[in-house]
Amino acid sequence: MATLHTERLELRPWRRDDVDFVFDLYSRWDVKRYIGREPRVMEDRSEAVALLDRLVSFDDPVQGYWAVERTVAGAGAGQLVGTILVKSIPASGPAEPLEPSGDIEIGWHFHPDSWGMGLASEAAAAVLAHAFAGGLERVVAVTNPLNLASRRVCERIGMSHEGQTDAYYNATCELYVAVGGSR
Ligand SMILES: CC(C)(COP(=O)(O)OP(=O)(O)OC[C@H]1O[C@@H](n2cnc3c(N)ncnc32)[C@H](O)[C@@H]1OP(=O)(O)O)[C@@H](O)C(=O)NCCC(=O)NCCS
Repeated sequence: MATLHTERLELRPWRRDDVDFVFDLYSRWDVKRYIGREPRVMEDRSEAVALLDRLVSFDDPVQGYWAVERTVAGAGAGQLVGTILVKSIPASGPAEPLEPSGDIEIGWHFHPDSWGMGLASEAAAAVLAHAFAGGLERVVAVTNPLNLASRRVCERIGMSHEGQTDAYYNATCELYVAVGGSR
């Protein structure tokens, strides 16, 4: 997985020693409340260890789970702020686990201490550009209709709003689409 750089950020592979940040991030209701059909927070550090086990072994030249770290000198430099993911999105359906839809999604989970600074949009734009440079033709993002901050990130990185869809995750979501070459 490629390490990416933006003006204020480094986007790098996850490491097992990021466990404290991952547990802090996903144990917060503010972060988890719009993620998944039945959101729940992490309650035990072992859940963060298990998640990181999966993330560090995910290996793909274009898709990935990036750890996002601040690089600007001064307060906050070297601090983890969140994650951007590019991965296969599951289709709605009766199967458990859900079958892949054939589409690829981009997503973002950031720590509340870092919200409102444009960091998610900055990181997501870089990952989307990387995805298209790596050959993806179409990337979707789905959000809970009430998740206005996430919808705004979709808009800020140039994704088109295509209304609501029930096609993924057995949930009604707002659908945003980006097509390579059209941005
Ligand atoms: C969605 C999320 C990643 C945004 O992170 P962020 O770093 O604050 O994002 P940015 O600063 O790049 O942009 C956020 C935009 O949303 C806007 N916004 C934030 N809260 C908002 C709200 N309640 N209503 C409307 N707009 C809102 C901000 O003003 C900003 O837009 P602007 O720059 O045009 O003013 C962050 O809120 C998060 O991690 N949430 C929890 C996880 C989550 O829900 N992920 C998405 C799952 S689909």
